[in-house]
Amino acid sequence: MAQMNYHTFENFSALTEALSQQWLTIIETTPDSSSFALAGGSTPAPIYQRLDELLANSGTKNPVKLVATDERWVSDADQQSNEGLFRRCLHTSALNKSWKLVSLKNASSSPEVATDAIDDRLQIQLPRPFSAVLLGMGADGHIASLFPGAPTQHDHLTCLAAVHPQTRQSRMSLSLPRLLSTERIWLVITGAEKRQVLDNAFNGDLPVAALLREASCTIDVFWCP
Ligand code: 6PG
Repeated sequence: MAQMNYHTFENFSALTEALSQQWLTIIETTPDSSSFALAGGSTPAPIYQRLDELLANSGTKNPVKLVATDERWVSDADQQSNEGLFRRCLHTSALNKSWKLVSLKNASSSPEVATDAIDDRLQIQLPRPFSAVLLGMGADGHIASLFPGAPTQHDHLTCLAAVHPQTRQSRMSLSLPRLLSTERIWLVITGAEKRQVLDNAFNGDLPVAALLREASCTIDVFWCP
């Protein structure tokens, strides 16, 4: 069971500043490569943009690796792409210098076809626990692309193919065990509805409940109304 710390903010700007500063400190104090798994979706972009600004001013050259917690099976140029989101938000300082984005995609026609190759890539390029995993959460309690009622792992692979239950969009997701192999988890949610889902989740069968029960690291919940 995870140690849960709740950080409540008046607004998303204050949440962004607090998390970005903590994130920058981890990067600046980790001379060998720190690594992060980052959520996509509509919430975290301001956090990535603020970190990019802070990095530009900090001058740190410490190497960083990042990977999406999940990716939609679309081109980087597609507005739906999480990796494309990272490239847009982290363009000033991060992804042009000492950062490396480990992609969850390849030229395969579908995530199902790609899982073994992407698993090999993740095992080789991200062999150690993450420094941090930044997760969002859907109002249905999904995290990454681990949706209610769907598998959270395929064999012992670090990734698995998934399908969004409403849009039927093909996704590649990190598995729950790979997401849990991290020094810390930041769960970034906004609004009363998601907070209620999280507060009621622990004994249930939602994907976020499995995260809370199985995490051995601290989970810092960053929340604002
Ligand atoms: C994605 C994310 C996903 C997201 C939740 C919350 O690719 O969409 O990784 O897990 O974090 O769906 O999304 P919002 O932040 O848009 O509410």
